[in-house]
This record gives sequence, C-alpha cells and structure tokens, in this order.
Amino acid sequence: YKEIQVALLGLGTVGLGVYKVLQMQKEEMQHKIGTEIKIKKILVRNLEKAAGKIEDASVLTDSWQEIVNDDEIQIVIEVMGGMEPARTYIMEAMQAGKQVVTANKDLIAADGKELMDQAKKSGCDLLFEAAVAGAIPIIRPLKQCLAGNHLSEIMGIVNGTTNFILTKMAQDGMEFEEALALATELGYAEADPTADIEGLDAGRKVAIMASIAFNSRVTFDDVYTEGITKITASDIRYAKETGSVIKLLGVARNTPEGIEVRVHPMLIPERHPLASVNDSFNAVFVHGDAVDDAMFYGRGAGELPTASAVVGDIFDIARNLQYECCGRISCTCYKQLPIKAMDD
Ligand code: NAP
Ligand code: HSE
Repeated sequence: YKEIQVALLGLGTVGLGVYKVLQMQKEEMQHKIGTEIKIKKILVRNLEKAAGKIEDASVLTDSWQEIVNDDEIQIVIEVMGGMEPARTYIMEAMQAGKQVVTANKDLIAADGKELMDQAKKSGCDLLFEAAVAGAIPIIRPLKQCLAGNHLSEIMGIVNGTTNFILTKMAQDGMEFEEALALATELGYAEADPTADIEGLDAGRKVAIMASIAFNSRVTFDDVYTEGITKITASDIRYAKETGSVIKLLGVARNTPEGIEVRVHPMLIPERHPLASVNDSFNAVFVHGDAVDDAMFYGRGAGELPTASAVVGDIFDIARNLQYECCGRISCTCYKQLPIKAMDD
C-alpha cells in the first residue's frame, strides 16, 4: 500500500479533532481502508499560536500555495469555516485534482451547486457529512440509503449550541448568557455565535438537507429563520408547567404547493421523542413513502463528534484512492481488481 497524504485547512475545534481522531485510528485504519492517512500540511493563520497544539509543528504552514501546488497531497480537508477564502481554496483544490472534505455548512448552503459542478468537472469528490448535525450520518442516508423514497418531510433539532442553551436553562436554571459562554467554551458554537442563536446555522443545515432530500435547489435565502434570543426564563417555566419543553426546530416539507423550509422555537410535549434530545445532541426525523418514519440521533457539535464525521469522509475517499482509481465514491474501478482477503 502507499500512504495517502492530506492537508488540513484550519486547526481550531474541528481541525484539532480531526488531527486527534486520525491519531486514535492509526492502528485500525490500515485494516479499515488498507492504507494510512498522513497529514502532510496544516494551514494556519498564526504559526506560533498553532505550534503549541500539536506534536510535530513542522507540518504547519501559513501558505495555501504550498498546499495546492503539492502534487503529493491528494485530499484537502477544509475546517476553517466562513465563505472566503474557504470557497476559493476548495475550488482551487478541485481544479488541481484534489479530493475535498469540508464541514462548512455556510459555504455548502450558499454555493453547494457551484461547488458540486466544479467537483464533477474536475472528477473529484466533495464530501460534507459533518456540515449537518455534526456526528450524525444524515447526508449519505438522504443521498444514498433513502434514495428509493419520495421524501416528503424532514424535521429535527440540528443545532447543538441552542439545544445546549435551552437544556441548561430548563434543567439547571442557567441564564442564557452563561449557557452560551459554556457552549462556546465546549467548542459547540460558531466563531460568531449569532449564527447559532439566531437560527441561521440551523437554517443552513435545513437548506442543505432539503436540497438533497427533495432533489431541488434550496438555499439559505429560502429559509424562514427565527432563533432563541427572545426565549425568556418565564417562557421556559411556562413550558414546564404545561408539560412541554421548548426546542429550536428545523422543518422542511415537500408539498404539492412547493417546498417549505423554516427554523423557529416550538413548544413540544414532554412525551414527544424530540423532547428528550438534550445538551449538544441533535435528532432528525425523515418521512418517506417507502421507509415511513426514520430517526437519526447523536452529538450535533463538538471536537471529536464532528471529527468523527469528517474522518468518515476522508476514509471513504482514501479507500478509492489507494487503488489509484478515479477517487470518486461512486466509482467502480475497484471491481476490476482481484478480491483481497480481509487480512491481506
Ligand atoms: P474554529 O474553532 O473557529 O476553528 C477555525 C480555525 O480555522 C481557527 O483556528 C482559525 O484560525 C482557522 N482559520 C480561519 N481562517 C483561516 C485562514 N484563512 N487560514 C488559515 N486558518 C484559518 O471553528 P470550528 O468550530 O473548528 O469550525 C470549523 C468549521 O467546521 C466551520 O465551518 C464550522 O461551521 C464547522 N463545524 C463546526 C462544528 C463544531 O462543533 N465546532 C461542527 C460541525 C461543523 P484562528 O485561530 O487564527 O482564528
Ligand atoms: N455551531 C454548530 C452547532 C456546530 O452548535 O450545532 C455544529 O454544526
């Protein structure tokens, strides 16, 4: 086997998580994907600040050109966040024939189509499982496992920060600001937490899920968003007294009248399955004409849970790359190779 060299763009909460999970997987990955993943470069803004975070600081660089012009780097993992320069780097990486994994929902929700078109043109994969609901596998299920359905509804809790805040306010009597500060400290919140508390982050995730599930182009601009900043302690008390909880829900419906996408707080009876989704956990319900109801549950944010989804994408691409095939998840190049025993 030959090892697969990758570059990490960003060494914040998710970047460091990916670094750690790849180390945790060192022994097992050989069996799982038949090769090893080596982080050749990590792009950071401040070399000095980043040096203290990892063992081998020689992989750090502040030059994108050093990465995009390096033909040995086959996969670029974008975990910097924001629109620019993330968009340009992803485009340039694909134009240079590199595969891309990203956790960036802002970018996918706004420019997913343009990015996917470039991926197709370059013969690359662009995977973004971590962009929606953190660790929960939801992009692949919507795109692949549930493709045999007409999907009519997606509903759920898709923001870890706001669910954490609402849980702390309801269960521990914590103030909004204190709970937000704790969510930020735990690495759940966005660099600008306005995106979380105003429902924008959840709106982006709903747009991405609706586009895939309804085979349509739904962007963030199509989503009605209302966050949790107007929820007061007395609202939470009132909910409790009436046997309910307040949750920030994302809803996408595919109706004969059109696609409806919205995010807003909702009063949910305590017996409803979503009522017991607490802390940074997320849950997504999907309804399809064949599957009926399906539910996905897990950690929606945080260092290792998010890295779990990113590394899953990296492994998928790496499995194909090691056979020197086209690298696409949908490729069938491997079928032309002799079947290997599991312990070969
Ligand atoms: P973060 O902690 O703020 O980390 C981002 C890192 O990228 C920071 O270290 C930042 O450097 C670096 N960076 C930003 N612009 C850069 C540039 N131009 N060149 C080099 N480095 C740059 O954010 P995060 O929580 O890891 O999130 C990263 C991405 O994952 C975002 O798209 C986010 O929406 C997504 N995501 C996050 C989570 C989560 O739970 N945190 C879950 C799912 C998806 P500085 O330190 O210098 O600012
Ligand atoms: N800020 C996001 C959240 C990170 O709290 O859900 C995961 O996408």
